Amino acid sequence: MALTGLVLAGFVLGHMTGNLLMFKGPEAINAYAAWLHANPGLLWGARVVMIISTIAHIWAGILLSLENRAARAGGPAVAATRRATIASRTMPYSGVVILGFAIFHLLHFTFKAVALGDVSFGDDVYKMVIAGFSSKPVAYFYIISLLLLCLHLSHGVSSVFQTLGLRNERWRSRLDSLALAYGWIIALGFISIPLAVLTGYLK
Ligand code: HEM
Repeated sequence: MALTGLVLAGFVLGHMTGNLLMFKGPEAINAYAAWLHANPGLLWGARVVMIISTIAHIWAGILLSLENRAARAGGPAVAATRRATIASRTMPYSGVVILGFAIFHLLHFTFKAVALGDVSFGDDVYKMVIAGFSSKPVAYFYIISLLLLCLHLSHGVSSVFQTLGLRNERWRSRLDSLALAYGWIIALGFISIPLAVLTGYLK
């Protein structure tokens, strides 16, 4: 769970940073997308790692949820259970929404299977993103999913340190704050784009 979570958390940071090129204008983001597609080794290497990590992460998440449920069914709440937060308790639910979001997102921007108006964008990623978020329900769906991604990361990133044996009582609250900050940075970085389109800042 920790290793796959780390890979996925690293991917979202890279993807979010790349997306911010939207604010530098069409040339910048389109050149970045063209560079990615011109390096099929890099693109497909990353895709394979992402597919394997996603499947393994979901599988480990299901097993962990089942184990937690079984543990809760027997005996009184132990200290760790009492310390549960909203983020930790809702990990399976935020995870399912993020998965649904990711499937929609691939259909939207990678397979272009979701209607984006009657225009064909060719290699113009900038225009495609603007058209994508010109639909208010789509933009709001992205924003809500990204807030849930923040919640998911705020527990997940801190748990990575626990799994690696690097989280002790003294460091626990600092790591929790670090994970919360990471979740917000990722979510707000991504959200800035649909928000900028909704408000007319990006057009
Ligand atoms: C405002 C938020 C986002 C925007 C504007 C955005 C934009 C894009 C665009 C334009 C592409 C297609 C790139 C291309 O084909 O050149 C893409 C692909 C992708 N995005 Fe996002 N993205 C966002 C959020 C996310 C999030 C939160 C995740 C993960 C949870 C994600 C995962 C992916 C994946 C896996 C691909 C496919 C990459 C590939 O193999 O081609 N995206 N995104």
